[in-house]
Order: sequence, then C-alpha cells, then structure tokens
Amino acid sequence: MAAEPPATWSLAQRRLHWIIAALVFVTALLGVAMVAVPFEALFAKFLLYQAHKSLGLVVCTCAAAQITLHLTRGRPPPDPSLPTLHRSAAAFVHGLLFALLLLVPVSGFLAASAAPAAIPTLLFGIVPIPHPLAPSEALYAVLRPVHLALIAALSVLVLGHASAALLHHRRGRPVLRRMWRG
Ligand code: HEM
Ligand code: HEM
Repeated sequence: MAAEPPATWSLAQRRLHWIIAALVFVTALLGVAMVAVPFEALFAKFLLYQAHKSLGLVVCTCAAAQITLHLTRGRPPPDPSLPTLHRSAAAFVHGLLFALLLLVPVSGFLAASAAPAAIPTLLFGIVPIPHPLAPSEALYAVLRPVHLALIAALSVLVLGHASAALLHHRRGRPVLRRMWRG
C-alpha cells in the first residue's frame, strides 16, 4: 500500500472502472442472448457462449488488475462532503462488488466445466482454457444456480451503486466527476 493515499483516482484506475462496468453489461447481455437463441441456430449459439465466457474471464482479469492497482497505488479517501453513513455504505458495497466481480466469473467457469454438454471454453474462439472439473449433471445442477444467484446479487448492487453515484452528482458532490475526469 502507498504511504500517502493519492488525492484522486489515477487514469488507469478510472479507465479500468469504466472498462469493467462496460464489460459486465455486455457479458450479461451475451449471457441472456446465448440462452435465448434456439438450438436450430447452433453455430450462433456456440459463438455467443464462447463470447460470453471469454468476456467474463476478461472481467475477472480486469478486476484482479484493479485490486492490485488499489493495493499498490492506493485509493483516494472518500469525498469529505459525503455523510459518514454513506462513506461506510460505499466502502461495504465496493468490497462486495469486487468479491462478486471475481466470484461471478469463477462460478460461471466452474458451471461451464461441469456442464453435461462438455463444450470446451475457447478464449475468443481460439485459445483452449482447460476445464478444472469433469462434466457432471449433479454438479452442474448446483453450479448453474450459484452463477445465476451471484449475477442477481451483482445486478442489485450495481443498480444501487450507480443510483447512489448519480444521486450524489445531482446533489453537487464531486464523486462522479472524480471517477470520470480524476
Ligand atoms: C461478469 C461476468 C459474467 C456475467 C455478468 C455473466 C452473466 C450471465 C447471464 C446473464 C447468464 C444467463 C442466465 C440465464 O438467462 O439463464 C449466464 C449464464 C451462464 N454463464 Fe455467465 N456471466 C459471467 C461470466 C461467466 C464466465 C466467465 C463463464 C464461463 C467461463 C460463464 C458461464 C456461464 C454458463 C455456463 C451459464 C449457463 C448457461 C446455460 O444455462 O446454458 N459466465 N451468465
Ligand atoms: C458493472 C458496473 C459497475 C461496477 C462493477 C462498479 C464497481 C465499482 C467499484 C468496485 C468501485 C470502487 C472503486 C474502484 O475500485 O473502482 C466503484 C467506484 C465508483 N463507481 Fe462504479 N461500478 C459500476 C458502474 C458504475 C456506474 C454505472 C456509475 C455511475 C453512474 C459508477 C460510478 C462510480 C463512482 C462515482 C465511483 C467512485 C466512488 C468514490 O470515489 O468513492 N459505477 N465502482
């Protein structure tokens, strides 16, 4: 951890925040689309699954990079205009968001590994990623709902998080401005 906390978010921290947010959104849309596409369009379905799994793994990597950056560079202290309760709530939600940014992709990867269909995971359709689990109907029946439950938790937290950021912005607090422009 840096000795003195920095005054604001670095360009890398800000870029990573918005890249992760955009990737989570696109990955979730791909997840819904891949499940909805009928089996008759098998190739399109396969490509959507591979895109979903690849972007999901990129989210996990970006979140790990962001956590490393926070630990090495430090994070700016909460905006002093925020009430104490809001600061504690924000710190708690940010911690949970990071946990979910790692757990959602990991649970998805484990579910994909255990899926009875035994479809390989190809990073961007090219690089095979070895599955840590053998296909198992029983395991998949547990891991798929776990992935979905974690996605539900992530969606609720992101909604609350983004609403709080917009609300503070409307009240004239620089919280959103400093994440956008530093
Ligand atoms: C931030 C990352 C991720 C998000 C937001 C996300 C989101 C989703 C969503 C919205 C669904 C569809 C749920 C439904 O309509 O039934 C889904 C399903 C699924 N995802 Fe993810 N996912 C992520 C990462 C991953 C990763 C990294 C993998 C695997 C490498 C993965 C594997 C799966 C599998 C196996 C399913 C179930 C598909 C099925 O029911 O046939 N996900 N995910
Ligand atoms: C999937 C979507 C999102 C995720 C996972 C996410 C996650 C996070 C996390 C973990 C933090 C803590 C700082 C960091 O390490 O980056 C943070 C900060 C922040 N986020 Fe998000 N965020 C998302 C979307 C949004 C959206 C849509 C907005 C605005 C409308 C937003 C506004 C902010 C602001 C203003 C901060 C800085 C708070 C501060 O300075 O104390 N985020 N976000």
